Amino acid sequence: MKKLLGVGVFALSVAVAGSALAADGAAIFKSKCAACHGAEGQGTAMAPAFKGNEFIKKSSVADISLVVKNGRAGAEKKYKQFAIAMPAQKTMSDEDIHAVVEFEKTLAGK
Ligand code: HEC
Repeated sequence: MKKLLGVGVFALSVAVAGSALAADGAAIFKSKCAACHGAEGQGTAMAPAFKGNEFIKKSSVADISLVVKNGRAGAEKKYKQFAIAMPAQKTMSDEDIHAVVEFEKTLAGK
């Protein structure tokens, strides 16, 4: 019985550790990105959707992270239908950017 309990606790802590990373990206997305890109990444009148987004699906995490870190403005802008630029996220750590980009990839459908 004691042994069984130990296995249960171990499985539980693995499950919690596993979801913590995903939760981070989701939490960052919610607080820093969702206002423009939509709560479910569906896009808004201000910014493009991540759902089904080919750039997010096909680009490496490193390439997407560069867009998040440096933003995309002026002549670099890809979507002329959105008046504003993608603001550079200069204060975000590389770990946070990485986590949020992984989360975006799940929104895009990989
Ligand atoms: C103030 C509104 C705003 C916020 C906040 C914002 N974005 Fe953006 N984002 C944009 C706009 C507008 C574009 C489109 C830029 C363009 O025309 O190329 C964009 C583009 C992008 C792209 C490129 C998409 C593509 O199809 O090329 C990525 C990736 C991205 N944003 C990630 C993020 C992440 C991650 C966050 C949160 C940390 C975030 N954005 C927060 C407005 C925003």
